[in-house]
Amino acid sequence: MLSWDDYDQDGLAGGGATTPRDAAASRSFLEGLEVAVPQDRPPEPAPPPGPAEPPVATLDAVSEVQPMPSPQLPPIPPATPEDPAPAPAEALADAVAQAAAHLDAESGIEHGERVTVDQKAMINCRADLNQLVPFKYDWAWQKYLDGCANHWMPQEINMTADVSLWKSDAGLSDDERTIVKRSLGFFSTADSLVANNLVLSVYRLITNPECRQYLLRQAFEEAIHTHAYQYCIESLGMDEGEIFNMYHEIPSVAHKASWALKYTRELADPTFQTGTVEADKALLKNLIAYYCVMEGIFFYCGFTQILSMGRRNKMTGTSEQFQYILRDESMHVNFGIDVINQIKLENARLWDDDMRALATRMILEGAELETRYARDTMPRGVLGMNANTMAEYLQFIANRRLAQIGLPEQFPSAKNPFPWMSEIMDLKKEKNFFETRVTEYQTGGALSWD
Ligand SMILES: [Fe+2]
Ligand SMILES: [Fe+2]
Repeated sequence: MLSWDDYDQDGLAGGGATTPRDAAASRSFLEGLEVAVPQDRPPEPAPPPGPAEPPVATLDAVSEVQPMPSPQLPPIPPATPEDPAPAPAEALADAVAQAAAHLDAESGIEHGERVTVDQKAMINCRADLNQLVPFKYDWAWQKYLDGCANHWMPQEINMTADVSLWKSDAGLSDDERTIVKRSLGFFSTADSLVANNLVLSVYRLITNPECRQYLLRQAFEEAIHTHAYQYCIESLGMDEGEIFNMYHEIPSVAHKASWALKYTRELADPTFQTGTVEADKALLKNLIAYYCVMEGIFFYCGFTQILSMGRRNKMTGTSEQFQYILRDESMHVNFGIDVINQIKLENARLWDDDMRALATRMILEGAELETRYARDTMPRGVLGMNANTMAEYLQFIANRRLAQIGLPEQFPSAKNPFPWMSEIMDLKKEKNFFETRVTEYQTGGALSWD
């Protein structure tokens, strides 16, 4: 696990604006301040006559320090005779007594049995979901803690080298540029699809508080990932309309997005409920679609391509963003697989021959769509890889996903042609990784109220 020592003074050393956007943001912030300074401040009224008093802090004194009304806000109208006068003390006491009389003194009080570990379940649980403890699934709580310990933000990563490389005519080959654009095109919307599926479909159907705690953490991480892609797109000055619409317009991207979306639709219906074999299987299908295929296979071609670029000292900032994201994603996949296996364990009837055959087919479909994406984005060999080596890697990954949920591997001869990917995923080994952090963000523990 990372320690706070990993978040040391490197951030402070880098300081200030590191990208054109940062610099622009700093400028516009300062410009905003300049605009806000009043140019025609009215003269101060003369003090009333009387003996000199020592200065006393009053509300008026505070308002004098900040005399500028916000230009966006309408002026406060002067009081009119129609305004209600403040209630006299007796009327106020009467109103409070009436409000108190309407309160139900028994509301919320229950003296039934307290929640026990045995009552907790992954789905269809009737125990109180507002009580995090006692823990039943320690692995879920531990993953929540690990996710928080790995917190990062996109602005921490220096994009300067990427901006100059991207804008230089000789910086990247056309094939390398295609890979960067396709990756940002796919991921910039894919993480939103994942987040929306979590929040709008999955969350309410997983009836366990410690798993929900992790889902909330994951949902925020997906927001950070979408932020990271947007940050790359903006830093590089790309055509945002082109990139964010690839999931509609580029077939190899659109096919992956639409494959995942169909597993969201049924569960997103607000009337959908689990509790029948058919409905519980629909939830299980959704979890396999998103954790094993979307996050577990569809992300792997793009991740490998961009990280390979970084290993060749190209687009190192973008590659570093992807490294952080890949670390989060491998935890998402591991969490999802634990959830799927726990649901199978608690609801054995769901994992019948039909469901096993369907799950196998879904993972094979995922590997096929990702292989098509590899062929589309790599018509020729590039960055020390080609579509055939990527196809083998995807077979290797598909085998892992099958085995992780208890299904037989389908590609017996598949080997891992990119063993360095496994090393990058375990970023604890990457000692220098944290030395590249350039900006500081304030954590809850560091807030000062002085
Ligand atoms: Fe993500
Ligand atoms: Fe994810």
